[in-house]
Amino acid sequence: MKTYIVGNWKMNFTVGEASIYLHKLLRTIRSYRGIEVVIAPSTVALQPLSLQIDRHKLKLAAQNCYYRDFGAYTGEVSVAQLRGLVDYVIIGHSERRYIFRESDKDIREKVAAAIRCGITPILCIGETENERNFGETEDVLKDQLLGGLQNVSEEDLEKVIVAYEPVWAISSTKDAKLASPDDIAKSISLIRKHLEAKFGAKRVENIPVLYGGSVNPSNAGAYLTIPGINGLLIGGASLIAPQFNDIIEVAKRVQE
Ligand code: PGA
Repeated sequence: MKTYIVGNWKMNFTVGEASIYLHKLLRTIRSYRGIEVVIAPSTVALQPLSLQIDRHKLKLAAQNCYYRDFGAYTGEVSVAQLRGLVDYVIIGHSERRYIFRESDKDIREKVAAAIRCGITPILCIGETENERNFGETEDVLKDQLLGGLQNVSEEDLEKVIVAYEPVWAISSTKDAKLASPDDIAKSISLIRKHLEAKFGAKRVENIPVLYGGSVNPSNAGAYLTIPGINGLLIGGASLIAPQFNDIIEVAKRVQE
């Protein structure tokens, strides 16, 4: 399976800055056969960057989408409108769930719409610090995972990527903590267990599961060697070209 290195730029960079930054990245990044590098700029930058990008080196993702194709939905951008611009769309990021109050129902509709439009959904799930302290991690992961995938058929499961991002480990969370490889390994095995129970072990083997939360060039190697992990979703460090590039190089070394 490929290793996915996904940079989530969140609401950073103007369109001009995004273009300059992409130019810098394209100069430094090397393309490796087994590594899929993806960047998720803000929606306004997708169109200009899609003209600038070298698809051998990088693919584009949207950070969000709406599930209806067209219509009276002021302010929304549908997956149908993203078709042709992006290969991936991040869905259910914790900032969408907790700041914008997205529900599991919204998220499952978005996952289904992405699949329908031929765009790979990256479904994000993860427990908050409180949920973790109350011993609710497994229930939360199961609910978010199976809730998000409720409308996905067994055949379509292979079109999905899951990203495990414990909210307490995301660098912008107040008092964020670094997740240990042991913590992550436990959650990844729970995620795979629940996927297998619903879709069968054979289908789940090929489903990429990524990790995200304060990933940087010094911890990327340890995270990428956790069993069951197939890549990283990177926020802060993806905004610093040398760090993002170093993480890609670490992924390359881990693959060798
Ligand atoms: P971080 O963000 O790498 O800055 O912790 C990850 C994310 O929110 O996807």
